[in-house]
Amino acid sequence: MRELPSSGRQLDRLVELLAGSAGEGWSLAELARSTDMPPSELSAALARLQTEGLSLEVDSDGRVRLPAAADMPVASRVRPHLSTNRLGQRLHHYLRVDSTNNTARRLAEAGAGEGTVVVAEEQTGGRGRLGRTWLSRKGRDILLSLVLRPDVDPAQAPGLNLVVGLAAGQAIREVAGITTDLKWPNDVLTCDGKCCGVLTEMNADPGKIHFVIVGVGINVNGTSLPNAIAGRASTLEQAAGAPVPRPRLVAALLNHLEALYLVFLDRGLRPFLERWAASSSSIRGRPILVSNPGRSLRGTTAGLSEQGALRIRREDGSVEEVLAGDVVQW
Ligand code: BTN
Repeated sequence: MRELPSSGRQLDRLVELLAGSAGEGWSLAELARSTDMPPSELSAALARLQTEGLSLEVDSDGRVRLPAAADMPVASRVRPHLSTNRLGQRLHHYLRVDSTNNTARRLAEAGAGEGTVVVAEEQTGGRGRLGRTWLSRKGRDILLSLVLRPDVDPAQAPGLNLVVGLAAGQAIREVAGITTDLKWPNDVLTCDGKCCGVLTEMNADPGKIHFVIVGVGINVNGTSLPNAIAGRASTLEQAAGAPVPRPRLVAALLNHLEALYLVFLDRGLRPFLERWAASSSSIRGRPILVSNPGRSLRGTTAGLSEQGALRIRREDGSVEEVLAGDVVQW
């Protein structure tokens, strides 16, 4: 499926408006005024929302409501739970994009400031780490990308990966009320499998980061997952036994991440190493197989290096540090 065509931004604006009105809904005249759409265009756009699977309610006074909006992470639903100064003050919500990381990158290239957030209900080309595809379910997951402009050396940027995983774990525990486990470098697991992955992409010159896009995917509501990942992955609803409110979860993620990010900017990764290790059952003493670009490495985990690399003790007692890779068996 393609990204929404020319009227896509109008639909996004319409959803934003419908989602923002708590209960009382909108008259067609109010909607036409607020979206600058002539009535015929507005009717077509409302019909289009229905074909996108969003059912609208129209009451006897002709006021329009979007019941699904209560769980949509649009700015007006996220903001009441946000306690940040930097992250999420600008939040763009889309019905459909190819990848929120791509949308955020385009915004960053056009000058979007630090903390700008992109969230989408659906991705048609979601990307995971190491060139993989990220599968998600329309309207049920969190698909979020954040523009950061950290004033640190590019060599320090991989540390951000660990910081984001830590923040995601904290947010999930707070909002879903479940226990989580971190898997290096930044997967968050529930007892049933992976529920959250992070893809950070950097735009930098030697010695200078222009921006970093932090992409976070969380499997949130519903209990069924695409066949290709069922069995390895899990949803928060599965683990919590109840649906989890996405707007609150987005806000909690940004709240926790801002607090950790400010410490990272000031003091680097060091303050997080112990906390990260304490949040991961597999970071020490676990037999593992790591595939890192080009080769596989078997051994036993031996904690984190100061740069956030995974330390692996080989059979001969030597220790190797892996900065980028994938833990395929643990
Ligand atoms: C991984 O575990 O491999 C990382 C997955 C990251 C997925 C998120 S979903 C939002 C953002 N947009 C993308 O295309 N990818 C990230």
